[in-house]
Amino acid sequence: MSITKVPKKVVTLAYGCQMSERDADTLTEISSQKGYVRSQELEQADLIIVNTCCVRESAENKILGKIGELKHLKEANPQLKIAISGCMVQQPGALERLRKRAPHVDIWAGTHNIHEFQRLLEEAEEKGKVAEVWEKPRETQESVLLAAKGKLKVYVNISYGCNNFCTYCIVPHVRGRERSRQPEEILAEIRALVETGCREVTLLGQNVNSYGQDLDRAYDFADLLEDVDSIDGLWRVRFMTSHPKDLSDKLIETIAAGTHLCEHIHLPFQAGSDEILKGMNRKYTREYYLSRIAQIKAIIPQVSLTTDIIVGFPGETEEDFEQTLALIRQVKYSQAFTFMYSKRSGTPAAQMAEQIPLDIKKRRLQQLITVQNAQSLAWRQEMIGKTYEVLVEGPSKSNPDRLTGRTRGYELVVFPGEPQLIGTLVQVLIQDANSWTLFGECRADRH
Ligand code: 5AD
Ligand code: SF4
Repeated sequence: MSITKVPKKVVTLAYGCQMSERDADTLTEISSQKGYVRSQELEQADLIIVNTCCVRESAENKILGKIGELKHLKEANPQLKIAISGCMVQQPGALERLRKRAPHVDIWAGTHNIHEFQRLLEEAEEKGKVAEVWEKPRETQESVLLAAKGKLKVYVNISYGCNNFCTYCIVPHVRGRERSRQPEEILAEIRALVETGCREVTLLGQNVNSYGQDLDRAYDFADLLEDVDSIDGLWRVRFMTSHPKDLSDKLIETIAAGTHLCEHIHLPFQAGSDEILKGMNRKYTREYYLSRIAQIKAIIPQVSLTTDIIVGFPGETEEDFEQTLALIRQVKYSQAFTFMYSKRSGTPAAQMAEQIPLDIKKRRLQQLITVQNAQSLAWRQEMIGKTYEVLVEGPSKSNPDRLTGRTRGYELVVFPGEPQLIGTLVQVLIQDANSWTLFGECRADRH
């Protein structure tokens, strides 16, 4: 009699930014090397990984709620292992607090301990609860981590950490100082991914524009983009996030000259007034930011711009806020990610006087969203009647009979088409639009 062994299942939940998503993917990949098969069904899981975010209080509350909910799954299945990793765990003093609050968790891992996940998992399986949170990253630990194979689009880390210390931001406190990966390692990882079917990479760093400053040779982000652009079999290269203070002319020219380098720049401005930018320690003025935008538009006329904006930073007056609204009207972003300022303990802004009351923050956020939605709609309506290259990603979530993908400018497109088109580049004529989505018709496929 043969007994067929049912494979163990892992379900991964990622909260927050693309770095968190990539870390979650790496953790899942490590667990699959230990025999766990990826799954979406929490109730069936043998291992649940939650990669956390602490950039805003709202994210933390959501995650704490989720971790609480997992308790009943653990009670129903004591064999279940629960692993919590990422930025929330890495905050100074957080581990003790979290452990008390969620005693049902088996593995705690900080942002600098991802590469140890295999050992942590083995220890949890054999001995019981484990926790590993290093205060600082240790050398070369991050170089060995691989993403899942066979995916069309993959995030690739090019640097870790951040040196900028924007006064509102917790990231430098939980991700450490900026460390650039060696170019050879990045290029080798991308080549290996392309061999398994990857066609689009997004190069990730808190500030990709300062990539290479800590390397032992003169090699910057523009050099890296050029090298990635020449990898055979790769169709699209994206990158994020760019800090305006480090966005060089050389970089803009490199993007313009590239073949596979997408004409999309995510360039957070955060606030439209010089007073607030100074309080945020952003190290540029409104005028400087706008001069960078003018340069980008002059050299890459078809560029799509997106941004991040915070409302209600301490001391923000109605006039300051009006300057944020005026800036988005002037630049005409394809999309903006808008946030209410959230006090993060340990950051300088949390100590600032003149914190803005919640009702004012909410009202400003609403106003900002209304203005940006109109901008996003106008941007997309301009695209109607023109044809764009789209990388087909899969069935549309809202309408599974149709396909979805993105333009080189990162706009989402929905259109009718056969499933065979998934994973190919097609030309889509845009016929209709709302603030978030373009609707069109597929012309002829290219690949
Ligand atoms: N409150 C609100 N938004 C924040 N961000 C970072 N820290 C905070 C905070 N404390 C936003 C910034 C950043 C994006 C990733 O998150 O806009 O660009
Ligand atoms: Fe945070 Fe500023 Fe660094 Fe971005 S650049 S991660 S907002 S400190």
